Amino acid sequence: MEKIRVVEVGPRDGFQNICDFIPTEVKLEAIHKLTAAGVRDIMVTSFVSPKAIAQMRDAREVAETCVKRWPHVRCSALVPNLRGALNAMEAGLRELTVVISVSASHNQANIHQTHAQSYENLERILKECPQAAVTVDLATTFGCPFEGYIRLDQVRDMVRTLYGMGIRSFDLCDTIGAAHPGQVKEYVEAMLREFPEADFGVHIHDTRNMGMVNTLTAIQCGITTVQAAAGGLGGCPFAPGASGNTSSEDMIYMLNAMGYDTGIQFDKMLEAALYIHAHVNGNYSGHQINVKQ
Ligand code: COA
Ligand code: ZN
Repeated sequence: MEKIRVVEVGPRDGFQNICDFIPTEVKLEAIHKLTAAGVRDIMVTSFVSPKAIAQMRDAREVAETCVKRWPHVRCSALVPNLRGALNAMEAGLRELTVVISVSASHNQANIHQTHAQSYENLERILKECPQAAVTVDLATTFGCPFEGYIRLDQVRDMVRTLYGMGIRSFDLCDTIGAAHPGQVKEYVEAMLREFPEADFGVHIHDTRNMGMVNTLTAIQCGITTVQAAAGGLGGCPFAPGASGNTSSEDMIYMLNAMGYDTGIQFDKMLEAALYIHAHVNGNYSGHQINVKQ
């Protein structure tokens, strides 16, 4: 059975655009239920400005608790700058995801940086946090809310620059859910062919109901790391038109049924999603039906 690493991003992407503050205990209980389902990779929070995303103001407490309570789980956080990276390291995390948008206008809207500033920022993070495993999330890889279609050569140029800086781990992010399977195939195949030493994951939003088919296409092209969010929550507050991520419970259902080894139990994953549903007021796309597998 082929192993697929399903990275749960619900506690970060899923929660970041929920207006009402989700009590820290609810976030931690959701993470607990995810770990109980067998999830071993979780993006637990983001170390961002509370002025940009107030929901993540408890990042430190969430991260510190996760590191202590679930040492067997790979916990990561999204960081937009050196300050976020240092705070994440201080909280005990060792896996950092730095976000840079392929589209210059979304990079500006999201983290107020030009590409040159983002590269400088990343250099600093790599220098100041040598113990960190750094992944770069390439936001708007497939399309941008402001610039529309993003060409493959734009993605390739950015990956090449980052590769030159020593980055070997990337997520191709469909921030607004603009991709279709043909584009996913083209971009994923090109990345795997041109950067065989690097690891690529996909992070797909489900705006047009293509989250599942896009993720599956990526897997069939050779990707073994995929991201999803419990309940199908998610969306970038600085990307108009974005909707939720592909739902973890539906994805686990599909992958397990197809014989992939995710290490995650569908019924327990559904339990985690239902817990979140009962405690967090958001836009859900995950299906709540329990079917014996
Ligand atoms: N953590 C906490 N606070 C931070 C911070 C961080 N990593 N980085 C900056 N800040 C604080 C600053 O201290 C400052 O606070 P003050 O106004 O009380 O002095 C404020 O945030 C603004 O900082 P500044 O350096 O002027 O940056 P900015 O206003 O250009 O904002 C970011 C840049 C990156 C900090 C901000 O845009 C951000 O956090 N974006 C996150 C976007 C995001 O998470 N998007 C969704 C995921 S893709
Ligand atoms: Zn996202």
